[in-house]
Amino acid sequence: MASTDIRMESLTPPSTGTPDKLAAAHPTAAKRSKRKIWIAITALISLAAIVGIVIAVLISQKVIRVGSSTSSDNVSEAAATSQAAEGTNGAGGNNDGGATPAPSRTGSPGASNTSASSSPTKTASPDDEDEDGKDPEPEVVCPSPSDIPKASKGTYFDTTSWLTLEGFNCTFTTETIGSLPLIGLNSSYSNSARANPQVPPLTKPWGSYAARPARGVNLGGWLSLEPFITPSLFDLPKSASVYDEYGLTLHLGPEKAAKVLEQHYATFVTEADFAAIAAAGLDHIRIPFSYWAVETYEGDPYVPRISWKYLLRGIEWARKYGLRIKLDLHGLPGSQNSWNHSGRQGKVNWLTGPEGSINAERSLKIHDKLSKFFAQDRYKNIIAFYGLANEPGRDHDINLLIQWTEAAYKIVKDNGIEASQVMSDALRGLGEWHGRMTGLGNSMVLDGHEYVIFDNALLSKTHSEKIDFACQIWVEQITGSMNTATGFGPTMVGEWSQADTDCTKHLNGIGNGARWTGTFFNGAPACPTGDKRCSCDLANADPKDMTPEYKLFLKTWAEAQMDAFEKSWGWFYWTWKTESAPLWSYKAGLEGGIMPEIAYERDWHCDKPIPSFGKLEEIL
Ligand SMILES: *[C@@H]1O[C@H](CO)[C@@H](O)[C@H](O)[C@H]1NC(C)=O
Ligand SMILES: *[C@@H]1O[C@H](CO)[C@@H](O)[C@H](O)[C@H]1NC(C)=O
Ligand SMILES: *[C@@H]1O[C@H](CO)[C@@H](O)[C@H](O)[C@H]1NC(C)=O
Ligand SMILES: *[C@@H]1O[C@H](CO)[C@@H](O)[C@H](O)[C@H]1NC(C)=O
Ligand SMILES: *[C@@H]1O[C@H](CO)[C@@H](O)[C@H](O)[C@H]1NC(C)=O
Repeated sequence: MASTDIRMESLTPPSTGTPDKLAAAHPTAAKRSKRKIWIAITALISLAAIVGIVIAVLISQKVIRVGSSTSSDNVSEAAATSQAAEGTNGAGGNNDGGATPAPSRTGSPGASNTSASSSPTKTASPDDEDEDGKDPEPEVVCPSPSDIPKASKGTYFDTTSWLTLEGFNCTFTTETIGSLPLIGLNSSYSNSARANPQVPPLTKPWGSYAARPARGVNLGGWLSLEPFITPSLFDLPKSASVYDEYGLTLHLGPEKAAKVLEQHYATFVTEADFAAIAAAGLDHIRIPFSYWAVETYEGDPYVPRISWKYLLRGIEWARKYGLRIKLDLHGLPGSQNSWNHSGRQGKVNWLTGPEGSINAERSLKIHDKLSKFFAQDRYKNIIAFYGLANEPGRDHDINLLIQWTEAAYKIVKDNGIEASQVMSDALRGLGEWHGRMTGLGNSMVLDGHEYVIFDNALLSKTHSEKIDFACQIWVEQITGSMNTATGFGPTMVGEWSQADTDCTKHLNGIGNGARWTGTFFNGAPACPTGDKRCSCDLANADPKDMTPEYKLFLKTWAEAQMDAFEKSWGWFYWTWKTESAPLWSYKAGLEGGIMPEIAYERDWHCDKPIPSFGKLEEIL
């Protein structure tokens, strides 16, 4: 591990030999004394100069340094005590620490009374302890391009090539675990944060998810692109024929694609999002990512491994705010479902298809790597769920799918993942899984994604009927599924949204229109009136321009679903953030006043009467 850490040593001020009284009485002594004074003054001036240079160097380093350490650089009293506890390994820490962000640690260094060799030393001694017996984090000085070995220059290991170093450990390392790079990670971490007072801090076990369901969001469209979430990335001429991440990266070519995607990874989700997620009373985050975070195969245009470090940093940011993680492998080699969010739309080439078995095998290897990596101690308290494959298509041979799932389960388990694993209901409905894959207890959770908008029969229900559907039918299906006598057993809702129509731009494909208005493949309008009164204007409005009736409906609709899905092990809204689709963005919903401000403090529950939505019912 090449490390460029500097450690500060305290420097005892040299004794400056004050002239003694005797000196005045004896001329020679006085001369000697004068010389002593000169030496002393010279020493003082040189000391001041050295201190000045050291301060200047430290300040200039600040500009390129990623954050400051927990304060080993300010040796004055309080510094060593106040923040030093932060960042001590795993277990310890303050158990009732709320979600309050740690104070910014980018203050100026207290350089006084300290000294350091002014060039970065490669001989940090992490075992040294300061006077208090604390083990402060070493100071980080980022390498410059000349520090990077030739073989790693320009690769994802090369921290000098990263778009941003914010929140990353910039120390160059090629260390891997399970052959996955341990890049950008700080050595120490603290599990003391707690997402909110309703849930335990990361140091403590969550307990029963049946008794305390997860309330989470997805970070959709971040590490796995989806056109309707970030239409700006897909804003290309039709002739480019770009419909998915595969097409986009192919169109851009490797270098441009790497730039465009890293820009997106670095800006679409930031630390402020994790803070806001915790502040909204949420406690879990599902992070979709795709196989190219781990590796790519010959002919793949996908950008390899750049998303990996953002995934790791995201987990650390979640940790800071006490949020637990559900990992979600969203795109598998060959496409497990033929949809754009698998990376490539068109055909399934996983399990079935010309390279189906090769790609199934590759996916198992990916899980082998991922599970070795995430079996590290540092992930034990924060990774609550490990998802095997997002939404394998409905057309898979169920026996093949089960075979693959069992193989993946075993690999992941044998590699030391203790978190519950998650398998999709594969869009067959929860009921299909009764009696299948039995005997796994709480170590496997069935994941259903519940929407009313991709099916005309559900889409055409009135507003109150939709709320009723959530409170009756979904509750029935979920409680049936949670019971092994009638269903699979542990069940959760990994995706749902507030959208009550399919009106969102690009949701059904670029330029494909909507079932709601009858513009989707020339179907009949599917809004409740089924005629030309069906309109997307209200659904696509900015929340600030929506009618109060529609806003009341949307909030009640969200609360009904939360209530229903809390009969399971919990829910994950799809998704936290979108560029321009407020009914698919928890964040926009909060800002627009159509989401409960605090997820665990809600006005409406399924056992209350459905409020009147005024004119809304008759028009739509
Ligand atoms: C890692 O440590 C650096 C410097 O101590 C800090 O700036 C950064 O925020 C830390 N990263 C995370 C994810 O905590
Ligand atoms: C430096 O050390 C001197 C003597 O120990 C002390 O009086 C002074 O306050 C220290 N300065 C700082 C900034 O810690
Ligand atoms: C050093 O720490 C002390 C005590 O916490 C604080 O008052 C002082 O501002 C710090 N100095 C610098 C330069 O950060
Ligand atoms: C940064 O990474 C290096 C290499 O993995 C590690 O030795 C060092 O302790 C890390 N720094 C921090 C602040 O965690
Ligand atoms: C993306 O996939 C969805 C299915 O989830 C599909 O309805 C839509 O047509 C696709 N969008 C594009 C732009 O291809």
